[in-house]
This record gives sequence, structure tokens and C-alpha cells, in this order.
Amino acid sequence: LTITVMAGGPSAEREVSLRSGAGVAAALRARGHRVFELDPVDSGWRLPEGTDVVFLALHGAYGEDGTVQAQLEELGVPYTGCGPEASRVGFDKVLSKERFVAAGVPTARYVVVDRPDASWPEGWEPPVIVKPARQGSSIGLQCVRSVEEWSGALAEAWRYDTRLLVEEWVQGRECTVGLLGGQVLPISEVRVRSGLYDYRTKYTPGAAEYLCPAPWDEETAERIRWAARRAFEAIGGRDYGRVDLIVRPDGTPVVLEVNTLPGMTPTSALPRAARAAGLSYEDLCECMVELAWR
Ligand code: DAL
Ligand code: MG
Repeated sequence: LTITVMAGGPSAEREVSLRSGAGVAAALRARGHRVFELDPVDSGWRLPEGTDVVFLALHGAYGEDGTVQAQLEELGVPYTGCGPEASRVGFDKVLSKERFVAAGVPTARYVVVDRPDASWPEGWEPPVIVKPARQGSSIGLQCVRSVEEWSGALAEAWRYDTRLLVEEWVQGRECTVGLLGGQVLPISEVRVRSGLYDYRTKYTPGAAEYLCPAPWDEETAERIRWAARRAFEAIGGRDYGRVDLIVRPDGTPVVLEVNTLPGMTPTSALPRAARAAGLSYEDLCECMVELAWR
């Protein structure tokens, strides 16, 4: 096939996307496909002639929020991952929350803040987590440990979006679950050496350890898989994605979010989970293309 890998783009996750794209392009070339690489930094991009499928290795605004998906629908070219509407909902943590609640997906208690000078939410106790509604890779995420830290955290998160999600801090073990073609991949547990699982920890080699398959008892594992599947359905996801969760000490999963275009660097969580299921990185890329193509 002739495959155009779109990576880079204008979002805050541009660097991560370029790494995803380089991995994907190399894997698809190794499988004998003709591969073009396209960085849609400006709106004037054109698809190379003869493109059969677009592989979206974009992350963040524009690439993951449904914008590029809608443009590709208009061009009538198949592309990997979720459609425009699921992408839009999945990328917006507030819209996702509404879908989760409606679908009975277990998720953390939250409030929405739409002013940079909002006061501390009534009836809440620190710590809380503040996140821009539309960002990825934990960019702009703040942990507020005392009421005094509130206004500074809002100001920082406000740099990235004009709608913020405030969530109760959930104590537990951080997990991530890949979904691929209707299958739930082996569950990964993320163990951070110190502090939060934030941007630095996500992309510094050795800062976090991934256990895959994670050592859960079968009952808890089944609850995690159920929650992940249900969350993906709730946003209308198709083909593949990755659901991030925290599992409370009593074994209750709490869904944080769905990533409709999860990181695809060869050491990212979804490729690791695929490997644990017997799919090499190249197999995984090939499978994603087939899901888009068929
Ligand atoms: N937003 C990053 C790329 C991820 O979810 O893996
Ligand atoms: Mg995300």
C-alpha cells in the first residue's frame, strides 16, 4: 500500500508525535509499504498522490481532536483510529466525563472551571488535580496540595485551555489498557520512581516502569477490562485506543481518560501491551492500517 504517515503538527505534543511518526514510518517501510511522511504544521498541507491510507501519528490539538479526521472524511481517504466525533469527545476531558457518567463508567468526582479566577470548589478538600480540558501527555496538569496553591495552579493550567477539569485526587495504582480491533490488550501498570506520572516522567527513559501484563488477580483484571471497554464505547471509539485508569486499593477501577491516538513510540504503552499479546511493533502498525483499510 501507499501510506502517508502524518506526524508533528501544531500541538503542544508535537515532539512526541514526531517520535511516534518516525517509529511507525520505519515499521511500515520494513513491511514493504511505500511510505510518505507529512507534517501538517500549516493548513496548506496536501496529501501525496496515490495515498491509500493515512496513518495518524499525530497527538493533541488538531490531530487528535477530530479536526484532521473531518478533513480526511471530506477527502474520502481512509485513516487510522477513531472518527471525528469520537476524537472530539475523547480529546475533551469534560465531554468525556459527561459520557462516562451517562454510561456508568466509574470515574473520579469532578467540577468544571471556566474562569481563571474561580474560587476553590465548595465542599472539596485538597489534594485535587487540575487539568486543561483539551491537552495530552499531562501538559498543564497540576496537583493542588493545599488551598494556597489553587490560584497558581489555575493560572498555569489556563495557559493551555479556557476550560479546566478539577478532579478529586484518587489514590491507587496507575494502569493503562490498550484496545485493538475489539480486543483488550494485556493491562499495564505504571510505576513511577518518584512524584507524578507527568510529562517528564512519561518521556524520560527509566523514569517510569511498566509492568505488562500487570499482576492483578483475575477478578480485578476483569473489572479493569470492563471499565476500559465501556469507556471506549462511551466516547464512540473504533479500531484502537488506550484507556488510562487508577485502581483504588479495594480493586475499584477509576477511569481517567481515553486516548484516541495513543503514543506510538516503540517504547510507548500501547506497543508494549501489544508485544505482551504476541504482536511486534511492526505487526501492530500493520494491524492498525488494516483496521482503517478494510
Ligand atoms: N497523549 C500521549 C501521546 C498518549 O496518550 O500516549
Ligand atoms: Mg491523554
